[in-house]
Amino acid sequence: MAKRIITTDITEEDSRLEPGLRPQTLDEYIGQEKTKNTLRIFIEAARQRKDILDHVLFYGPPGLGKTTLAGIIANEMDVNIKITSGPAIEKPGEMAAVLNNLQEGDVLFVDEIHRLNHQVEEVLYPAMEDFAIDIMIGKGSAARSIRLDLPKFTLVGATTRAGLLTAPLRDRFGVVQHLDFYTEKELQTIITRSAAVLGVQIDARGALEIARRSRGTPRLANRMLKRVRDYAQVRYQGDITSAIAGEALDLLEVDKYGLDLVDRKILKTVIVKFGGGPVGLDTLAASIGEDSGTIVDVYEPYLIKKGFMNRTPKGRMATDMAYEHLGLERKTKKD
Ligand SMILES: Nc1ncnc2c1ncn2[C@@H]1O[C@H](COP(=O)(O)OP(=O)(O)O)[C@@H](O)[C@H]1O
Ligand SMILES: [Mg+2]
Repeated sequence: MAKRIITTDITEEDSRLEPGLRPQTLDEYIGQEKTKNTLRIFIEAARQRKDILDHVLFYGPPGLGKTTLAGIIANEMDVNIKITSGPAIEKPGEMAAVLNNLQEGDVLFVDEIHRLNHQVEEVLYPAMEDFAIDIMIGKGSAARSIRLDLPKFTLVGATTRAGLLTAPLRDRFGVVQHLDFYTEKELQTIITRSAAVLGVQIDARGALEIARRSRGTPRLANRMLKRVRDYAQVRYQGDITSAIAGEALDLLEVDKYGLDLVDRKILKTVIVKFGGGPVGLDTLAASIGEDSGTIVDVYEPYLIKKGFMNRTPKGRMATDMAYEHLGLERKTKKD
């Protein structure tokens, strides 16, 4: 399959370039004002008390800045960050080892925290609540559990789907923040900042053109900026204007709403194959050959946010805007 620019998975190029583009402080972090204000208060309070920050959970679609915020928290609290992820820790003993290796005050960042298995998750409960772990010693009838104290730490969790988190885990976070898609204006600022970091010349309208097409997502905005930079360099003199940005992104088949081929395929399938819906998620996923989790995490939130699709109890439905955008006629009357 061809490499798609819209994928919100981290590409090899992202992991090379993202560290340089990542804001290091709350002041550099653009947008998400509510989350920033909340964090500022908690960080300030913790610092005044010379205490650790409460455990923090970030949720929202990929590429919106969850990992970045974890780094910023550690930076603003002046502590170290240890990074792991739900799928990386398979056994309770591995989690116990990670926790046991923390230093007082450290941030432990657990990405994709909804993917921790149940036994591993259970190690976290006393760790988060009492800064302790229970370890089983011996076997059979001689087995007993002893409690081991841990240094105080801050758990920062990130997930694309808060709904998949178990209640006992969710309840142990003192701060829970939802990250939403960015506005065009915010993305324009992010793109302008990234261009400066990368040493790329771009005017305000060029940045806005990329912002419009980047699905409200900074990771995509940065990735598109790099694609457009390459295009401007090869075809033009290197500076990015709105016309050049538009041309480059047309070539990548990202339309003016930021929809790519898969987005349009989803909408077209709902309309043409299922009469505009409602169609169930699994049926839809099967007919376009995409994983249903990817549809829920990556595609659907933006299509819904932009008003192209609705999620109803009976299934997904295409809106009038979707028909209009694809230039298709409604055949049957809507209910
Ligand atoms: N608020 C922001 N301001 C500036 N750049 C951002 C912001 N949020 C994210 N980014 C950029 O987008 C990239 C992806 O963010 P990341 O934190 O990895 O997203 P997530 O962990 O939610 O998938 C980062 O490398 C960073 O350059
Ligand atoms: Mg991340």
